[in-house]
Amino acid sequence: MQRKLGNIAVTGGAGFIGSNFIRYLFAQTDFTGRIINVDKLTYAGNQESLSDIQSKHGNDRYVFEQADICDYERMKGIIQQYDVRVVVNFAAESHVDRSIFGPKEFIQTNILGTFNLLEVVRELWVGRNDVLFHHVSTDEVYGSLGDTGFFHETTSYDPRSPYSASKASSDHLVMAYYHTYNMPVTLSNCSNNYGPYQFPEKLIPLIILNMKEEKPLPVYGDGKNIRDWLYVDDHNSALWMILNRGTTGETYNIGGENEWENIRLVHVLCEKMSEKTGKPGDYYKRLITMVKDRPGHDRRYAINCDKIKKELGWKQQIGLDSGLDITIQWYLENEEWVNRIRSGKYREWIDKNYSNR
Ligand code: NAD
Ligand code: TYD
Repeated sequence: MQRKLGNIAVTGGAGFIGSNFIRYLFAQTDFTGRIINVDKLTYAGNQESLSDIQSKHGNDRYVFEQADICDYERMKGIIQQYDVRVVVNFAAESHVDRSIFGPKEFIQTNILGTFNLLEVVRELWVGRNDVLFHHVSTDEVYGSLGDTGFFHETTSYDPRSPYSASKASSDHLVMAYYHTYNMPVTLSNCSNNYGPYQFPEKLIPLIILNMKEEKPLPVYGDGKNIRDWLYVDDHNSALWMILNRGTTGETYNIGGENEWENIRLVHVLCEKMSEKTGKPGDYYKRLITMVKDRPGHDRRYAINCDKIKKELGWKQQIGLDSGLDITIQWYLENEEWVNRIRSGKYREWIDKNYSNR
């Protein structure tokens, strides 16, 4: 079934994936409605990530509203004012390390914020079938794998960090609203994303920028933890298919089928950077610094995404080689964005919590 999609509210649209999603909707889909970007602008949100969209579509097909998803009246007002028919909920505290230093914001935004949005749409959308609440979640809710096996949509939740526990809790609430109130919802659990506009506290942009500045490249523990990497627009194309044709009440796993040990990935980044800068092959590898492990560090994530491939015809388009080339080039060319996002609150937090960044 093809849904007719009305105006879309993208919560967390000033963050990494949300901003790429909004750009994707304008550039690569036939969506003709309005996009309302609802973002609190925490340390991770940056309106400049969408300055091109603002200049081209601002006040017509694109609107920005600075608001907290925990604020019931604001959310209700926005959904009513713009006749929002689809909510895509990206808004979250998203970094595992931060959730270890201070879990409170994670509980507040990820659990209570999602609950608040669900309550708003329950009040406003009762009995309607031309609406959809899509919740963007992570494969981290499934816990940690050993050397073999994959996460399926039916895998039991087993979150281990405050971040993944908060996302797991929000996923359960979303599904509870489907079963209890018949709320039209869809849910997706995606593996690690990378690409332009990612906040530089996450592994790939951190390594790229530290190489550029010839700072240590911190690798946690023995470096053998495995993540399944997906280029951000491949996540966006999956989300677009779910909004259009996903079955309500269903969960879709999205993944790269692209597992890398952290240390091997960092080696690849070093080699690519050497090629770009004309330095000898091992030039950046000397900066690799093995550091104390993250507490409760999940060993391996790997997604089985057969369901979305079979049911919706999705597949990954961008391999790691070209995805990393695009990403490295983007960070090298966008120094102004990087400097702005790394100043202020982020700098204070890094200085407080790390000695070598
Ligand atoms: P991000 O940290 O880059 O962006 C989060 C955005 O949410 C920011 O713009 C921030 O200002 C906004 N925000 C935070 N609290 C808010 C609140 N209370 N009200 C309104 N806005 C608020 O995160 P991201 O990496 O883009 O992740 C987006 C979503 O995708 C999250 O829900 C995350 O759990 C999920 N996800 C991320 C990945 C990944 O690899 N990054 C993988 C799978 C799923
Ligand atoms: P990250 O990008 O924080 O994503 P997540 O924790 O959600 O998977 O980290 C990816 C992997 O890289 C994870 O195994 C932790 C590791 N890591 C490092 O080794 N060094 C770092 O400085 C960071 C930020 C992460």
